[in-house]
Amino acid sequence: MERPAHGHVPVSIETPIWSRFYTIAPLVIVGTREGDGHDLAPKHMAMPLGWDNYFCFVCSPEHATQANAQRTRQFTVSFPRPEQIVEASLAAAPREEDSSKPSLAAIPVFPASTVDGVLVRDAYLWLECELDRVVEGFGRNTLIVGRIVAASVDERALRVSDADDADLIRQEPLLAYVSPGRFASVSESFSFPYHVNFKL
Ligand SMILES: Cc1cc2nc3c(=O)[nH]c(=O)nc-3n(C[C@H](O)[C@H](O)[C@H](O)COP(=O)(O)O)c2cc1C
Repeated sequence: MERPAHGHVPVSIETPIWSRFYTIAPLVIVGTREGDGHDLAPKHMAMPLGWDNYFCFVCSPEHATQANAQRTRQFTVSFPRPEQIVEASLAAAPREEDSSKPSLAAIPVFPASTVDGVLVRDAYLWLECELDRVVEGFGRNTLIVGRIVAASVDERALRVSDADDADLIRQEPLLAYVSPGRFASVSESFSFPYHVNFKL
């Protein structure tokens, strides 16, 4: 067995390792009910939880998103397009002294169909979730898990059997968060080279 051609640099685990290299993540905007209005917050540590209709994201007990989700037992997830990167950033703007987040006024939303909440208008995929559980104890973070109770997709982003998947992604590029602090618009994609006997 040969070692890789390039040197291995140990990364200290004395502090969190994640700022030392890049990794790819999605970027979603989580919506929750807050008072008479709503809250929106971007999350890149977010993904389907398994093969069934569950979705999870990493949160923090210090974020209003977690308190809102625990109180209402519902949340929404919008998947923004690359053109909406500023909206994703605005959703993380600091709160005012009265704890309001005025930047949210610049993010157009529409009502969810099944849960009491809002979805981000120009996104391409929308999930509505009932809170399943909050798993605590990952250092400063928590995992918030939802059961998807409704989902909808922009018709331009819907996979249809007679269309070419590569063309679809070229026409409707996907937003990727390149952590930390960068983003990418993914328009070029390739079929995964599955083994001939691969089964899920
Ligand atoms: C690009 C980006 C990605 C983020 N990803 C996460 C994440 O995955 N988990 C998390 O807890 N916070 C994440 N945050 C931070 C929160 O979403 C942010 O602090 C938010 O404003 C909290 O708002 P809230 O108190 O209204 O919930 C992210 C922020 C940005 C800008």
